[in-house]
Amino acid sequence: MIHIAILASGSGSNAENIADYFSGSDDIQVSLIISNSRDAYVHERASKLGIPSCTFSREAFGEGTPVLKKLREYNTDFIVLAGFLLKVSQPLLDAYPGRIVNIHPALLPGYGGRGMYGDKVHRSVIDAGEKVSGITIHYVNEHYDEGNIIFQATCEVEASDTPDDLARKVHALEYAHFPRVIASLVKKIAEEIQQFENK
Ligand code: GAR
Repeated sequence: MIHIAILASGSGSNAENIADYFSGSDDIQVSLIISNSRDAYVHERASKLGIPSCTFSREAFGEGTPVLKKLREYNTDFIVLAGFLLKVSQPLLDAYPGRIVNIHPALLPGYGGRGMYGDKVHRSVIDAGEKVSGITIHYVNEHYDEGNIIFQATCEVEASDTPDDLARKVHALEYAHFPRVIASLVKKIAEEIQQFENK
């Protein structure tokens, strides 16, 4: 079994969608949800899904060791950031090389970086008069939203769109693509683990 941990700071609709997608799988499961906010709605979703969830402070995320300990406790193989606000610290990056991915609600390298989160991103895209936006799934590195891009999908931005309208379109793309992109990445990792064990 490959164990996925999801890091989420807010509502967690992507976390729920990913967990649902893998709920029937015999070899991949979402085993843990971690947040930096005790009040995040993602905890309610986790409890309905029967997935353990916990919270670590910004300091604990920054230091890394307590989060790493928890990830290891749940035999985490792969980490998914789904609406996660904080930077991923070096100990986590070192422990999971090429095994941490993020979804960003715009077409990187545009409209990314520190503080570019959720509706703020959509507001900036609309204010700039963009005709197209979308999603970017990318590997996580030590800089916000700068890791190698794995997948992008686009949607049209209408002149009349509000940030909520655009968020709805972007969320629809996220729900359609993020779980299957994760599935294909995780399958490659499962093969690597298998090869390593066969050596
Ligand atoms: C998603 O649209 C995700 O792309 C975005 O936050 C939203 C979380 O929604 N992430 C970022 O903005 C990261 N910079 P959710 O909590 O309902 O999954």
